[in-house]
Amino acid sequence: MKLAILSDVHGNRHALDAVLEDIALVGVDATLALGDFLSGPFDPVGVVDRLMGLGIPMVRGNHDRYIAEGRDDDWHIDAWVRGELGPAHLDWLRSLPLNAVHEGLVLLAHGTPRDDAIGWLDGMEGGNAVLQRREHVEREAAGFPYEVLVCGHTHVPRTVKLADGRIVVNPGSVGLPFDSGSPDAHYAIIEKRRSGWSVALHSIPYDWQGAAKLALDRGYPRWAEVVGSGWLKPREL
Ligand SMILES: [Fe+2]
Repeated sequence: MKLAILSDVHGNRHALDAVLEDIALVGVDATLALGDFLSGPFDPVGVVDRLMGLGIPMVRGNHDRYIAEGRDDDWHIDAWVRGELGPAHLDWLRSLPLNAVHEGLVLLAHGTPRDDAIGWLDGMEGGNAVLQRREHVEREAAGFPYEVLVCGHTHVPRTVKLADGRIVVNPGSVGLPFDSGSPDAHYAIIEKRRSGWSVALHSIPYDWQGAAKLALDRGYPRWAEVVGSGWLKPREL
């Protein structure tokens, strides 16, 4: 079984198209998507229309929930995104589950399986993303007996092996590369082999200038800087 994992598109259609094109080149059995699809001043309608047409397993992110619920006290951009969407888009956002299981082997979550707004593998210390304590990573996995647990939310690509051999994989962010040092789009390929699951974390160059221009045109220069450099932190938006 060979699967593509993508997360945290944040309305960046340029990055999403590049990742889906790369996945098509690689060839996979299925693509799984982990939420925070639309929150960003790029092309949320283009992203939601493309995603709704894919018919792939997906879970919601915390910002998908905020947009659907009408909450914008976390990121003000969520109010702008909500204004761009139609009723069918909002119904689709509301239909996304907190978790999903693919083929009985892979658990999909955005943050952790119980909370879409908590970082599973990375946390923030002094404004920097750092590997979470082992107890936290193991505790959040308790009660979810699947070979692979995939998550997003932190935008930091990482693979962790649990004490019992299960793995937790975060593919990083497709469309909003916080603190990664590169504007590239990130996603993961996981493959079940005789010796276990292999994980490949991919970094894909794409037309980030096109995404940055959209953010600038809409009056969001910091967002343009994030997609253009990959050096900003979430709190610097
Ligand atoms: Fe996100």
